[in-house]
Amino acid sequence: MEKPMLVAGNWKMNGLKAALAEVEAIARAADSAPSRVEVAIAPPFTLVSLAKDAAEGSRLRIGGQDCHANPSGAHTGCIAAPMLADLGCDFVIVGHSERRTDNGETDAIVKAKAAAAIGAGLRAIICVGETEAERDAGRHLDVVGTQLEGSLPDADPASIVIAYEPVWAIGTGRTPLAGDVDEMHNAIRARLVARYGEDGRRILILYGGSVKPSNAAELFAVPEVGGALVGGASLKAADFLPIIAAA
Ligand code: G3P
Repeated sequence: MEKPMLVAGNWKMNGLKAALAEVEAIARAADSAPSRVEVAIAPPFTLVSLAKDAAEGSRLRIGGQDCHANPSGAHTGCIAAPMLADLGCDFVIVGHSERRTDNGETDAIVKAKAAAAIGAGLRAIICVGETEAERDAGRHLDVVGTQLEGSLPDADPASIVIAYEPVWAIGTGRTPLAGDVDEMHNAIRARLVARYGEDGRRILILYGGSVKPSNAAELFAVPEVGGALVGGASLKAADFLPIIAAA
């Protein structure tokens, strides 16, 4: 494959300081990857600054897993996009299905967070994806299309990345068939082009949900797959490195 790719790890609520050894190993792999392959990690907020230090001087990008829609204020426990930018972060994930479910985040909230991230100089990785029931009912394209339309900010498309993560594939070991990923990524691309014109063609569309060393190459071979958002298999360099190599 000779296309630009982003392989990003989402560590979710995992990782103590001992995990910085994994960051260092992933940073070395990021430097060995071809220049068209970008590698990134979103550790928990507690490790962001330490991970930045561990990745210092390498091509490994560090980002956050969420941000508030406001740049500062009375929001106990929240993190603002300018705080992440201040630490040297490159991106922030917004609208992950776990936040949509656990924290009641609507498309409008996700859109505001994406706008805040981009306003702070970060890239926004905007997550969308259908539930199993929605796919079984044949509504997956409509559901994801609606999520996408509602979550896209009025912002420079160069700062936008989309992650298609079918909810039923996250942490389950199950993945859609390559043909189903192809169908969804094409549908997302069509909406991005309708929204942003030709610039919409350059937005990376990642696939996420049970990406592993054993299935990465097949998923990456889908033409509109521009990389992966990897959960469990990004925690250990031994699992993540073969995924980076497959890109
Ligand atoms: O954001 C990545 C994620 O939701 C996928 O998780 O563990 O299935 O790779 P996992």
